[in-house]
Amino acid sequence: MKRTLVILGCLSGGTYYILSNPLPRVEANGEPYQILPKVSESDHPNKHFLTRLPIKTVGIIGGGIAGCVMAKTLTQQGYQVEVIEKNPSFGGLWYKNYDGSGLQFHRDHYNLPDFPFVSKEDFPRSPEVAKYIESYAEKYSIKPYFQFKTSVNSIEQEKNDTWTVKTDKGDKNYDFLVLCTGPYNKPYIPKIKGFDRFKGKIIHSSEFINAENECKGKKVLVVGSGKSAFDILGQARNYGADVAVVMRKTHWLVPVDLKVFGYPLGHFNSSRLGGLFLDPYYSERSWVDSITGFFSPVYWYMIMWFIKKGVPNELMSEESYKKEKHFRGGARDKTIYKDIGNGKIPLHRGNIEEINSTGIRINGKDIPADLIVFATGFDREFFGLPAEEDGLWLYRNVLVPGKKNLAVIGIVNTYCNPLYTNMQAVWLAEVLRGQVCLPNEKKMHEDVNERKAYTRTILSGESTISFSWFPYPTIDQLLKDMGLSIIRKPNRLKYWFEPIKPEDYKEVVTHRK
Ligand SMILES: Cc1cc2nc3c(=O)[nH]c(=O)nc-3n(C[C@H](O)[C@H](O)[C@H](O)COP(=O)(O)OP(=O)(O)OC[C@H]3O[C@@H](n4cnc5c(N)ncnc54)[C@H](O)[C@@H]3O)c2cc1C
Ligand SMILES: NC(=O)c1ccc[n+]([C@@H]2O[C@H](COP(=O)([O-])OP(=O)(O)OC[C@H]3O[C@@H](n4cnc5c(N)ncnc54)[C@H](OP(=O)(O)O)[C@@H]3O)[C@@H](O)[C@H]2O)c1
Repeated sequence: MKRTLVILGCLSGGTYYILSNPLPRVEANGEPYQILPKVSESDHPNKHFLTRLPIKTVGIIGGGIAGCVMAKTLTQQGYQVEVIEKNPSFGGLWYKNYDGSGLQFHRDHYNLPDFPFVSKEDFPRSPEVAKYIESYAEKYSIKPYFQFKTSVNSIEQEKNDTWTVKTDKGDKNYDFLVLCTGPYNKPYIPKIKGFDRFKGKIIHSSEFINAENECKGKKVLVVGSGKSAFDILGQARNYGADVAVVMRKTHWLVPVDLKVFGYPLGHFNSSRLGGLFLDPYYSERSWVDSITGFFSPVYWYMIMWFIKKGVPNELMSEESYKKEKHFRGGARDKTIYKDIGNGKIPLHRGNIEEINSTGIRINGKDIPADLIVFATGFDREFFGLPAEEDGLWLYRNVLVPGKKNLAVIGIVNTYCNPLYTNMQAVWLAEVLRGQVCLPNEKKMHEDVNERKAYTRTILSGESTISFSWFPYPTIDQLLKDMGLSIIRKPNRLKYWFEPIKPEDYKEVVTHRK
């Protein structure tokens, strides 16, 4: 017994010693703040991406969080930057979002490495998120580069490879163009017979703003089974509406603050240890994954149990989990699930057959409504770039293979997207400085195809462009390209157990001359 205790003591002491000892950084050339020799033209395998024109002017379309980090990164490197934004102010999507909306991730995950999000709320609401973005713009003095209330209608590449941007206030021309127009900027409402006959009001979820008067004492019908639908149901009910919901499929919706044995799931899943229980990223497969892959079904079975707790079966069937294998954010007001389950909130499953003067017709039944809210998601539009049904497939989620002097930042994002967006912006700046060796176009396509196949296998194929549960691999990939260490934690204990923290990446976003 004594011997066993001694052995156990030695083992745990040794493990603790190893885990808490400083972790050696992977040797990296360009870190921190070091000026690297430029990659010479002959070293550069992709001569086709950048023209030989020196890039001076950069146009950025979209002034959300992505446009802001891009503008900050490039102005600090001396480029002449102009940001074209159709809204009258900062915030992007958060400038005007639906009533009651706010972060679905803890603010610790929705902040930038060099600008912490200070708030009393764990999940701040839209106006506070917009204010955070505006304060960032103020701190980094990028306001003067913004042209607000200007809409871009189209973009066109000139013979000399510069880009002409056609706006409602005239044309502009830039050496380089960055699209930061966000993943969700074109509301989608399905075309259904009888729209014009309806005597009430029809809106998209993004127009559900200052909705108290429209809801009070009214019949509000919400269409959709995504996060917007559940949130709007809750908010309309808070405003005294008589609510009902129409759904086709159901999805797995994870409560924003879900805890597993008292520990927030989002924290565990964004640690490297948590990542071992997920499908390994296409570029990262190793023998460790085979071992953890063996245990991962058990882990996910347990997580599913916690997610499903208290949610009626018809809202989260095992089939939908098996099909999607990944989750969407859940409703802010969790009583919504229970009340759909116990029939307090009528649920109509199926496709709407038609809209008539007093409501909708579904499954042969007429359902009355005063207000119909289509929480039916967003269309994706990328100024005519070659997108597929499940999105825009880009090299490193930034470059369009074969297109010169053009990049996309933020639109294709991941779980903790402000951090990833910021890493993309820094990566692009390094590409422009010639510090990242890009593969040739054929290799870019090969890489994109490999990631596409991986993503389509592990996700449902519906939500492939915007969602990746585990944030590290995509960020690691960009860091490695830039010759920077992926190790951002001081010791192994934190490396494996601590969730990703944007502030760990502060060094990466600090201006390099
Ligand atoms: C309801 C909702 C909630 C979300 N919650 C979260 C969350 O909790 N956590 C998270 O990580 N992500 C969340 N997301 C994802 C969200 O897209 C990102 O958080 C973030 O806003 C993306 O920033 P962005 O700058 O890339 O895009 P956006 O914030 O969408 O900014 C794009 C900007 O481009 C402008 N623009 C677009 N087209 C044009 C044009 N033609 N001309 C001029 N300007 C144009 C728009 O006006 C907008 O200001 C949520 C999305 C939605 C729809
Ligand atoms: N932070 C937050 O608080 C927050 C809030 C809202 C949204 N978001 C994010 O924003 C993104 C968009 O979310 P969203 O909820 O607006 O949209 P979404 O997740 O794309 O869901 C759209 C819903 O509309 C339904 N739909 C589409 N066409 C339909 C039709 N013809 N008839 C009936 N239903 C139809 C879909 O049904 P099917 O499933 O059957 O196709 C789906 O349930 C997501 O990434 C989400 O996570 C975040």
